[in-house]
Amino acid sequence: MSEAKRLAAEKAIEYVEDGMIVGVGTGSTVAYFIDALAKIQHRIKGAVSSSDQSTARLKQHGIEVLELNHTGNLSLYVDGADECDGNKNLIKGGGAALTREKIIAEASERFVCIIDPSKQVKVLGKFPLPVEVIPMACSLVARRIMDMTGGQPTWREGVVTDNGNVILDIHHLEITDPVKLERELNQLPGVVAVGLFARRPADVVIIGGEPPIVI
Ligand code: 5RP
Repeated sequence: MSEAKRLAAEKAIEYVEDGMIVGVGTGSTVAYFIDALAKIQHRIKGAVSSSDQSTARLKQHGIEVLELNHTGNLSLYVDGADECDGNKNLIKGGGAALTREKIIAEASERFVCIIDPSKQVKVLGKFPLPVEVIPMACSLVARRIMDMTGGQPTWREGVVTDNGNVILDIHHLEITDPVKLERELNQLPGVVAVGLFARRPADVVIIGGEPPIVI
């Protein structure tokens, strides 16, 4: 699958225009995108990063990393996903970077999602849905999630997010109304962000292959 990830990532370079500040997601597919971006870095002003991991890779390549508070809205955000349905709704957060990813997606005019074919699904939920939670609310939120969804939340052991929080992964969901579930989970006190990107889905999805498919 890594070849498919690379092909998707390289196709996404076509969306980068001269002088842009590019929003950059997190993960192994995005790592290929950063490597490709490095080759045209003279054409861009810099990047806004969604994680310490992506920041380190961007800086290794000499790409300037800027603060979203200073850049204002972005024209382009490129990120991967764990699952993608036919309406470009996504599950994200396998890399625990969902909150900053969601912030940058919200700030961006165009969200280009880069995936390998295994990420395509009819109904979201086979991949456990990540939720970032304030540590003291972890048990409370887990109990509420069980009552609300019937899913099984598990604490992602040993993981602390870049924001100092924990991750619950909700297993055994079949997400037929992703916008509703995203809204409901977001309202639980202690939830920082939900890894459902349905209220703000991707605008473009690139599925890696020879040739890549753009939908
Ligand atoms: C990180 C993410 C990633 O985009 C998602 O986990 C996909 O990762 P990969 O490209 O390594 O398959 O949401 O929080």
